Amino acid sequence: MTDKCTVCAESQEKAKELQSIIAKYKDTRGSLIQVLHEAQEVYGYLPLEVQREIAKQLEIPLAEVYGVVSFYTQFSINPKGKYKINVCMGTACYVKGANEVLDKFRTRLSIDVGECTEDRKFSLDACRCIGACGLAPVVTINDEVYGKLTPDDVDDILDKYEEL
Ligand code: FES
Repeated sequence: MTDKCTVCAESQEKAKELQSIIAKYKDTRGSLIQVLHEAQEVYGYLPLEVQREIAKQLEIPLAEVYGVVSFYTQFSINPKGKYKINVCMGTACYVKGANEVLDKFRTRLSIDVGECTEDRKFSLDACRCIGACGLAPVVTINDEVYGKLTPDDVDDILDKYEEL
């Protein structure tokens, strides 16, 4: 049996996908955002080395790529978890205690905002108003919305995802 590094194989596979995405759009002007979108689907986020490769192949400055990545909130330079937790820090949620809810997530998961747990199960982010102020304070986990939360609710919610 040959020893094959699954991590290397996976990253080679991703690198190949990245090359074909770039090749598909290389000759289309204004395609940077589309390339970044598809690259993020492959990697789950946009690490610097991926941005560097895109800049090189599209023959544009890395600063331009980084500028776009940091401008649009849908792009992330940090890895995301299988379950993406977003704590709304808009005014209504903040006033109703979003900060305490956020603190509880940070303590329970031992990660800070913008980080991901080591097992890549959870990532934690703060976001702007998601338009559900009547349910403040609001947290989303992937497509699920949790409203009127208190810090005491956090354990039950996370326990549910831990079991999945
Ligand atoms: S401020 Fe949180 S949903 Fe509007």
